[in-house]
Amino acid sequence: MAFGILVVLLIVLVTTTAPAAQPLSSNCNSSCGDLTFVPYPFGIGEDCYFNPKFLITCNYSTKPPKAFLMESNLNVKSISLDGEMVIEHFVSRDCYNNKAERVERRMPRLWLQNYTASSTSNKFVGIGCDTRALVEGYRGEDRYATGCISSCDSLNVFNESCSGVGCCQISIPRGLQNFTIKLTSYYNHSGILDDSNPCNYAFVVKENEFNFSLESFKALENKTIEMLPMVLNWAIGNEDQVESCEAAKKRVDYACKGRYSDCVEVKDGSAGYHCRCLTGFQGNPYILDGCQDIDECKNNLTLCKPGNCLNLPGNWTCKCPKRYNNTGTGCTLNNAGYQSEKLVIFCIALEELKRATNNYDEDRVLGEGGFGKVYKGILPNNEAVAIKKSKIGDETQTAQFINEIIMLLQINHRNVVKLLGCCLETEVPLLVYKFISNGTLFHHIHNTRRTSVLAWKLRLKIATETAQALAYLHSATSTPIIHRDVKSTNILLDDNYVANVSDFGASRLIPIDKNQLTTMVQGTLGYLDPEYFHSSQLTEKSDVYSFGVVLAELLTIEQNCLFDVVDGDIVDEENVVELKQVANLAKRCLSVKGTKDPP
Ligand SMILES: *[C@@H]1O[C@H](CO)[C@@H](O)[C@H](O)[C@H]1NC(C)=O
Ligand SMILES: *[C@@H]1O[C@H](CO)[C@@H](O)[C@H](O)[C@H]1NC(C)=O
Ligand SMILES: *[C@@H]1O[C@H](CO)[C@@H](O)[C@H](O)[C@H]1NC(C)=O
Ligand SMILES: *[C@@H]1O[C@H](CO)[C@@H](O)[C@H](O)[C@H]1NC(C)=O
Ligand SMILES: *[C@@H]1O[C@H](CO)[C@@H](O)[C@H](O)[C@H]1NC(C)=O
Ligand SMILES: *[C@@H]1O[C@H](CO)[C@@H](O)[C@H](O)[C@H]1NC(C)=O
Ligand SMILES: *[C@@H]1O[C@H](CO)[C@@H](O)[C@H](O)[C@H]1NC(C)=O
Ligand SMILES: *[C@@H]1O[C@H](CO)[C@@H](O)[C@H](O)[C@H]1NC(C)=O
Ligand SMILES: *[C@@H]1O[C@H](CO)[C@@H](O)[C@H](O)[C@H]1NC(C)=O
Ligand SMILES: *[C@@H]1O[C@H](CO)[C@@H](O)[C@H](O)[C@H]1NC(C)=O
Ligand SMILES: *[C@@H]1O[C@H](CO)[C@@H](O)[C@H](O)[C@H]1NC(C)=O
Ligand SMILES: *[C@@H]1O[C@H](CO)[C@@H](O)[C@H](O)[C@H]1NC(C)=O
Repeated sequence: MAFGILVVLLIVLVTTTAPAAQPLSSNCNSSCGDLTFVPYPFGIGEDCYFNPKFLITCNYSTKPPKAFLMESNLNVKSISLDGEMVIEHFVSRDCYNNKAERVERRMPRLWLQNYTASSTSNKFVGIGCDTRALVEGYRGEDRYATGCISSCDSLNVFNESCSGVGCCQISIPRGLQNFTIKLTSYYNHSGILDDSNPCNYAFVVKENEFNFSLESFKALENKTIEMLPMVLNWAIGNEDQVESCEAAKKRVDYACKGRYSDCVEVKDGSAGYHCRCLTGFQGNPYILDGCQDIDECKNNLTLCKPGNCLNLPGNWTCKCPKRYNNTGTGCTLNNAGYQSEKLVIFCIALEELKRATNNYDEDRVLGEGGFGKVYKGILPNNEAVAIKKSKIGDETQTAQFINEIIMLLQINHRNVVKLLGCCLETEVPLLVYKFISNGTLFHHIHNTRRTSVLAWKLRLKIATETAQALAYLHSATSTPIIHRDVKSTNILLDDNYVANVSDFGASRLIPIDKNQLTTMVQGTLGYLDPEYFHSSQLTEKSDVYSFGVVLAELLTIEQNCLFDVVDGDIVDEENVVELKQVANLAKRCLSVKGTKDPP
């Protein structure tokens, strides 16, 4: 559906920028070199951070400036408001010469009193062919050690993944603080067949930031890689004891004091709590006015459609059109809306319709179009019906079907085809109409074999009835309806040549969609008002124009020599005056700039 595409395009155009997560005040620097995002509770400089734990020290004498955690030598690479931070940390190495003597050893400790290494975002990796890699540390007061072993004759298998050959990898536990990585070998690398692996390496690294490959191994060897990123968890609160939000709220230094901010307990093993914005708000929950309302209506232009969306603090509300229920988060077609006082829709069971159409026998096809197929069916009470079946799985068609039902429910006119029932609970919606026995007006006019030539009086009657039906649609219903696809194939005739306007799939109720649908082109080329293309304005005039085309057809006029050639079969001396009048009428309908439309 063009409208759907339009909405999608608009959504792409609307930038959904979240308010930047601010520092505490404009006096505080919000970035330091590559660390471009220093949100409160973190801060650079005095009075800019929540407590000393959140101090970011920026060394401006390097180029670019470098950010460090508190007063440590831990370089901070990024900080996120959901309780994670990425720091850089040294790779541990342990190297031997070919006489099996240790020539280099570096095993830095990491003091993480106030932070913990993330168990979910990191891996512990050991690399080498004679390698025992251990991570030893504290979880609270408890000592802890784990590790992995890698042993091989030669390091020549690089598989992009740390699969166990020359590389071992394990997860680390939650809540790991103060830790050391210990690297040792069993045989001082003496058992390795070639010079492929003089060193062991080990590190805790952010997942996916180190892939085991020849390239990365070489970079470790030549010290291009000396540091790797690692994820730390941070939280507000007392590191010594787990503190519930309940207790935190009673403290004077409670961090989530903002109006739309709330406390969440930390479940990753580090003590303390986080703040977060309430649902429907976004921003920095650690700042007093940091949580800002999300304009859901602006971010999602399909919300509440076909109704209107109204943004509220933290929420939104829908204003739904008639016959739609407000579900709280959107507008859905009201079942009760399928019924009107004048017309009761029966829901006919699918099985019954299958039987009625002889299981949708191709012999029963009455017509076919972009929408799907129309079958002739015989109901158990011997009533003949036309069954319109949408194409399987085509949501646009389904939407048009529903649209058609809404239209037809408002209409009760002898010249508008009657909807008898529907079957909506199925995958493919089915519409059941009164069967109109004598085919389409198009068939009667363009019948080349001239077996059933319509007499002029009959043509005039059909034109009048069609005009009455359209006038009714435009004015007599509570909401004006534009048919949008008036053409001779959509005018059906019964045995008494009574006109029945059909096919409301493209129709629109004007007030609901006036603004939204003006750029939509529907209908059939040739019948479509050229002005509609120019102005893209959908008005009753588009139907008037299409009706003019039908009138011209009734006069059997060749398109390129307007009104000169009139069907010889229908002209006689008596009706020549009427013919001229109708021809004039058709002309007026078709005049693009015509100011006066016929009634
Ligand atoms: C803020 O950044 C500027 C350079 O961008 C620096 O000169 C200044 O000292 C910084 N202020 C603080 C409080 O760190
Ligand atoms: C870090 O945590 C310890 C307790 O484990 C506490 O004594 C110390 O003050 C904290 N340091 C900072 C800078 O908050
Ligand atoms: C900043 O970096 C420079 C160059 O690395 C170093 O000499 C200096 O000691 C650092 N300053 C601080 C305060 O750490
Ligand atoms: C290397 O990867 C391939 C393909 O994924 C696999 O078949 C093979 O077993 C792996 N080799 C080792 C030593 O893990
Ligand atoms: C971490 O190391 C520091 C410095 O050595 C020490 O004071 C602290 O007690 C250690 N933390 C734990 C939990 O062992
Ligand atoms: C490994 O080297 C160390 C000294 O570098 C030595 O004490 C130790 O005995 C050696 N071990 C083996 C198995 O060669
Ligand atoms: C590691 O591999 C993953 C998956 O293929 C990839 O997404 C990631 O960018 C790689 N990391 C590096 C540092 O190359
Ligand atoms: C180190 O090894 C890597 C990976 O093979 C390579 O890209 C880089 O140029 C090497 N650097 C030096 C200084 O040799
Ligand atoms: C917009 O809202 C609709 C209806 O609630 C929902 O189905 C759709 O996924 C939303 N689209 C986006 C981009 O959030
Ligand atoms: C938003 O409004 C709906 C309907 O009134 C309600 O059900 C929902 O709980 C509200 N959501 C929030 C976050 O307040
Ligand atoms: C719509 O609302 C009406 C009246 O409140 C209710 O009877 C009907 O079941 C609702 N329909 C749907 C589809 O929710
Ligand atoms: C239309 O009705 C007439 C009169 O009942 C009948 O003769 C004719 O065959 C019908 N034409 C079609 C196409 O059904």
